[in-house]
Amino acid sequence: MPGPNGIAGSMTKLDPAPCRPHVQPGRAFAAEEARSRMTKKLLIRTWGCQMNVYDSERMAEVLAPLGFGPTDRPEDADMVILNTCHIREKATEKLFSELGRLRATKQDRAAAGLPMVLAVAGCVAQAEGAEIAARAPYVDLVFGPQTLHRLPEMVARSARAGGLVLDTDFPEESKFDLLPAERTTQGVTAFLTVQEGCDKFCSFCVVPYTRGAETSRPAAAVLAEAQRLVDAGARELTLLGQNVNAYHGEGAGTLARLIEMLAAIPGLSRIRYTTSHPRDMDDALIAAHRDIPALMPMLHLPVQSGSDRVLAAMNRGHTAADYLRIVEKLRAARPDLALTSDFIVGHPGEDAADHAATLALVREVGFAGAFSFKYSPRPGTPAARAAQLDEPTKDARLQELQALIAEQQLAFNRARIGTTFDVLVTGPGRHPGQIAGRSPWLQAVHAEGSATAGQTLAMRAISATANSLTCVIEDHQQERHAA
Ligand code: 5AD
Ligand code: SF4
Repeated sequence: MPGPNGIAGSMTKLDPAPCRPHVQPGRAFAAEEARSRMTKKLLIRTWGCQMNVYDSERMAEVLAPLGFGPTDRPEDADMVILNTCHIREKATEKLFSELGRLRATKQDRAAAGLPMVLAVAGCVAQAEGAEIAARAPYVDLVFGPQTLHRLPEMVARSARAGGLVLDTDFPEESKFDLLPAERTTQGVTAFLTVQEGCDKFCSFCVVPYTRGAETSRPAAAVLAEAQRLVDAGARELTLLGQNVNAYHGEGAGTLARLIEMLAAIPGLSRIRYTTSHPRDMDDALIAAHRDIPALMPMLHLPVQSGSDRVLAAMNRGHTAADYLRIVEKLRAARPDLALTSDFIVGHPGEDAADHAATLALVREVGFAGAFSFKYSPRPGTPAARAAQLDEPTKDARLQELQALIAEQQLAFNRARIGTTFDVLVTGPGRHPGQIAGRSPWLQAVHAEGSATAGQTLAMRAISATANSLTCVIEDHQQERHAA
């Protein structure tokens, strides 16, 4: 289940590019030297979930040895990659309008004798490769999420032969085994993919078709990557997977055990994981929230609907009562645990009573935030073939749900006022003399003062908005650096 990406949500957004530079003295020279070898410019645009953010970082890493360094200006780019998301509506239209703009830039560059390799990656590429080839013949590369390790070879093939290079296989080999071990991403917070794909086949969702069957990375590979990220300055890791709590990788067996192993890495003070399915929320994982202090007191656990009829139509495999029971167990294990969720309104068959059941569930749980979406038919999925609700009904239900969630989110943030908690400093704040950081509940924090990125400081919240907290530093002396 992909994580929230903030498109239509009303929740505190995850920083989509969380890795601020955190250059360690010994690494500065190597980084400088690497940059000077980067003679070509690469622009990657990323839509969608954190798994796409992770994949984009890995694409930049495999292309760096070919001399590609980053740019955010299309006109300067020798290569542009659009890393796409197919989860909700209009993904294909958005892609084609972006491609139309880039076509003009590509032509301008060609007129000046400068080439531009144009690539489409991600889930739209996986699902609509043939349509892209037909409608946008000026695109050079189309590749899915499972073949990004073959990018250098694709670039070379395209340069040699011209024409479209299309690679949307689900290959035998794992991209993780073939991607470079070295992670060049440096930052206080980092993503780490541990699991991919989904076998759950919710009625509305394209993920099982675009990301393929569920697979887990072996624990040794995850631990090695985590260690490299920590060595490069990461203090907080978010473990990613479409269905992350279905993790069953060799050497750990369960996500609970993997988290326990990761928590033993010195210097790694915070661990999160997303996105989970209620059906895979087993007792060991619930106990991990009680027993592992590095596991942050926050869980994104999508429920999608509060109506058993709709949950059955969605093929979710759980009822509203099952969800509430899990919440109860989680809160017993970790009383300060905050919950966030995803909701879909207007799934085929949803009536007014079903919608009221969703609102009732939201009231009963009390969320710290949630993403809520209008159902949009995804081609090839079962729900797309059913009779659809009208747009005004879906709009009205979405508004009502979002208003309730916004209220709960603000209440959750306000409830922090006057309390003291650990804040991981992520870098300088927006204004001079300010620092920015993250609370244990993923709230953005601003405070007056100075501190180094990567430090953990006790802070007291003095005010709150829907999306952030203003804090004062309580104990500057006693830095809490879990090691
Ligand atoms: N329509 C609307 N929302 C969707 N999601 C997934 N597929 C659809 C769809 N067809 C939402 C779900 C999921 C989140 C990542 O996106 O709520 O949890
Ligand atoms: Fe999540 Fe269901 Fe989609 Fe799987 S099919 S990714 S469980 S929403």
